This record gives sequence, C-alpha cells and structure tokens, in this order.
Amino acid sequence: MAAPHDWWRDAVIYQVYPRSFADGDGDGTGDLAGVRARLPYLAELGVDAVWFTPWYVSPLVDGGYDVADYRTVDPAFGTLAEAEKLIAEASGLGIRVIVDIVPNHVSDQHAWFRAALDAGPGSAERERFHFRPGRGAHGELPPNNWPSQFSGPTWTRVPDGEWYLHLFTPEQPDLNWAHPQVRREHEDVLRFWFSRGVAGVRIDSAALLAKDPALADFEEGVDPHPYIDQDDLHDIYRSWRAVADAYGAVFVGEVWLPDAERFARYLRPDELHTAFNFNFLACPWDPARLRRTIDDTLAEHAPVGAPATWVLCNHDVTRTVTRYGRTDTAFDFTTKAFGTPTDLALGTRRARAAALLTLALPGSVYVYQGEELGLPEADIPRARIQDPMHFRSGGTDPGRDGCRVPLPWAADAPHFGFGAPAEPWLPQPEDWARYAVDRQRADPESMLALYRTALALRRSEEGFGDGPLTWLPADEGVLAFARTGGLLCLANLSATPVALPPYETLLLASAPLDAAGRLPSDTTVWLRAPRNAG
Ligand code: GLC
Repeated sequence: MAAPHDWWRDAVIYQVYPRSFADGDGDGTGDLAGVRARLPYLAELGVDAVWFTPWYVSPLVDGGYDVADYRTVDPAFGTLAEAEKLIAEASGLGIRVIVDIVPNHVSDQHAWFRAALDAGPGSAERERFHFRPGRGAHGELPPNNWPSQFSGPTWTRVPDGEWYLHLFTPEQPDLNWAHPQVRREHEDVLRFWFSRGVAGVRIDSAALLAKDPALADFEEGVDPHPYIDQDDLHDIYRSWRAVADAYGAVFVGEVWLPDAERFARYLRPDELHTAFNFNFLACPWDPARLRRTIDDTLAEHAPVGAPATWVLCNHDVTRTVTRYGRTDTAFDFTTKAFGTPTDLALGTRRARAAALLTLALPGSVYVYQGEELGLPEADIPRARIQDPMHFRSGGTDPGRDGCRVPLPWAADAPHFGFGAPAEPWLPQPEDWARYAVDRQRADPESMLALYRTALALRRSEEGFGDGPLTWLPADEGVLAFARTGGLLCLANLSATPVALPPYETLLLASAPLDAAGRLPSDTTVWLRAPRNAG
C-alpha cells in the first residue's frame, strides 16, 4: 500500500468540467454550487480526487482556458469563498482537489495583455508576450510560419502594426516564458491555490511554454520543434517542483509527446510527479497495440520512478463509448468527425471492458465526468456549437462540444436534473433519460454500478494501483496479467469466447460469462487466483 503522502501514485481522479457538471442556480451553466451539492455522489462513486478544469474569471472563448484572472472564480461559476468551501467540504469527504493552471497563454482580457496593447511597441509591457514587427515590405506578413494548435494563423496584427503570437485563438495571447515576471507570477499563483488547500495542479499545454528565442520558422521534420518540448521547460518545472514540495502538492502535466524518452524527462524526480499518458487514450481497441502501449508506458516511467497515468477520455477528445463503437476506423482514433458511423452497443460493451482493464493497471486513473455513466459523444446542432476549434476549422471539424454536454442526473426532471429553469448552455440529446444517474443507480447492470464496484474493489484490494504487473500466457487476442495478492485481470479482445484460468473468486466482470463459464468477446474479468497459486 502506498504511503499516505504518495496518494497520487495510485489515485482515481475524477475530472469535473464545471460548466457541464451540475447547475446550482438554474441559469443553464454548471457552477460550484452544483458541484458542492453533488459531492456526496463523488464520494459514493469512490474517487480519491477531483480535477477541475479552469473556474477562473474568463470570457469563456475557449471554455475557460482563456484566463483573465488566475486568483478568482468566474461569477458564472461562483466566488472564491465558495471555491474555498468546496475544497474544505471535499476534503471532509476524503476527496482532494486539483486545479487547472494555464501557463502558456492568458485571455486577451487579462490585465497584462490590456496593458501591453495600451503601452505600444517597444514597451516593457509588451515584453511579457511575443510582440514582433511583421515581415514583408510593410510588415503585412506574420513574423513566422508557426502552425497553430487549433487550425488558423498563430499571429494577429494590432492597430499599431505589431503582431502577437497565440498558439491557440487570438483571444489567447502566449506569454513570454523567458521573462522573469512571467515565471514569478505563476509561482505566486501556485502558492495562492496551494495555500487554499489544493492538493495538486494540472498544467495545461505543459510542453508548449518555452519558445525558440529566435522565433525561427518551423521546418517539417527538423528538430528541435520551435515551440514544442524546448529544453528550457525543465528549468521552469524544477522551480515549480520546489514550490509544490513546500506544500506537499503534486503536478500532472498535459504533455502530448510521442517520444517516450522525451516524455519521461518531464517526470524526473525534481520535475513533475505525473503526466497524462495520451498514447493509451489514442490507442484503438486492438490487443497487440494496447499491449505494446501498456508495456512502453511502464518501461518509460520505470527509470524515472514515476507512476503511469491512464486516461480513456477528457474534455478534448471523442467520448470512449463512441470511439470504441466506430465501425469506420479509417481515420485517426481521436479525431472528431461529423457523421462517423458508430455502433453504440458495441462501443458500450468495449468501454466497460476498457474500464476494468484500465483500473487494473499500475498507476493512477482519470475518469472524465459522464464516463461512469457511459455517455456517448453527443451530436450538437451546428447552430449551437460553441467550441472555437469548430470555427477555426472553417466549420469542417465539429469541435469538442459533443463531449462537454451537461450531465443527466434525473431521468424525469427538466433538463434531466442538470438544473432549471434555464436551458443548458449546450443541448442534451433527447434520449439521455436512459443515462441519468437516478436510473443507473437503480440498475445493478449499469455503467455506474460497474464503476462503483470497480472503484470499491480497487480501494480494498492492495494489489491494485501502484506496483508490479506480470503478463500471463494467454490465447490470441487476450490481455492477461497478474497483480500482487493473487489478482488476475483478463481482457478478451478476440472475436470468440475464451476459457478462464483456474480461480478462487470472480471479483467482477464487465459482462456475464457464457453458459460454459468462458469469457466472451470484448469482456474483462477480475479474478482472485487460487491461494496455493499465489
Ligand atoms: C488544453 C486544454 C484544451 C484547451 C487548450 C488551450 O489542450 O485541454 O481544452 O483548448 O489546452 O488552453
């Protein structure tokens, strides 16, 4: 069992997207009052911590990832005093709070950016951002050719003729991390939240902060990339680590890097405690590829002594049930696409199997709100889409709203109990009564029941969480491994049922065994081995 201070090595962390979790004041937008009222639900579910996507003052151009003030809560969500109460109440229920810090950029409404616009070219205020003259005879061309993290340009010209850099939308100007004030400010923001009892920080776009000082053009295939994974980042995170250590707080970095060795550098003992493992999320439902991803993940974390994280979905990617149910796999697995054919029954079956597979792996696990309800990706009518990703793609990409739809709490209440009287900020599909929490609570076969039982077992069985994993010989298409204490996990990704090894107890299965006691296709089971087998 992990020592108490190492809670994060095997925690189950629930991601709350506050805007869509629960609406306490009935204005159509989720809020902290809604979260506070539902804390008992999270305690009953059995999570160890909650990560809140940004709740700070924001024009909400990018769902709150455009922060105007890192030290207070947006009035749409509540107040700072309420956030403090929420942190205390959660802690009273044994749930830790993780907040989301967005260091790469601020909102164009942030005081620093407004001052930079007012102060003009050459001013000290502009040095906290990346302002540059343009190229071309009249400065009419952007300073370089950097590709955007969303589609569209990365530079916007202001009326005095200078351009500023924004890797995301124009409303999200990038900070200049070579500037000492930028570093000092963020370390203060960390202290601000840690001193309010926050146990951890999720670092948004963690590998993008440092830029090539020359802002040289991007060239395909030439390393290093001018703004991804620059070496200077490690010094920034070493300083952050010292701040966190003073409070016993932890980090989880949003680090999308395919190179395992480069990824692991962020997890050295004096840098970040953990980082999201997106390779696992991006892996299709394929036994050989999943096995390889699990092995690579464990192998890359081992030398730095960091625990792996396992994530199946979040507020940026297509929901698990829909992804695993896609019958057309011709495109990249995480891509959002209009009208992709989906078999929801198949997707749900696989999502159940994936949940048990994931929860049996060594490390910490993230559960995105609604994943425990088996919510599919929703189709948002075009006229209601809010995500800037959609608009910046010229309307070809549906954007991320389909995984951000307000949760259904009560099958027969207005707006499925999300809140009333106002319409939720994104429309809920008409048939979502079947996913409502109250219905699933009453159904022992539901996704919610599966998650609750799995989380309770994960907590009571010491062999789960951090610790060794041993692969077992298994039939083709089956992932089988042992954890300590005689725990076995078998996931059958083949098309046919397979026989189970000898076992003492069947702890949990994502679907019933067949009449011959075999494990059906797309099913995962947790077993306790016979005692004499260790
Ligand atoms: C991260 C967030 C995403 C946001 C982006 C810009 O990728 O998860 O939602 O749009 O950063 O802050």
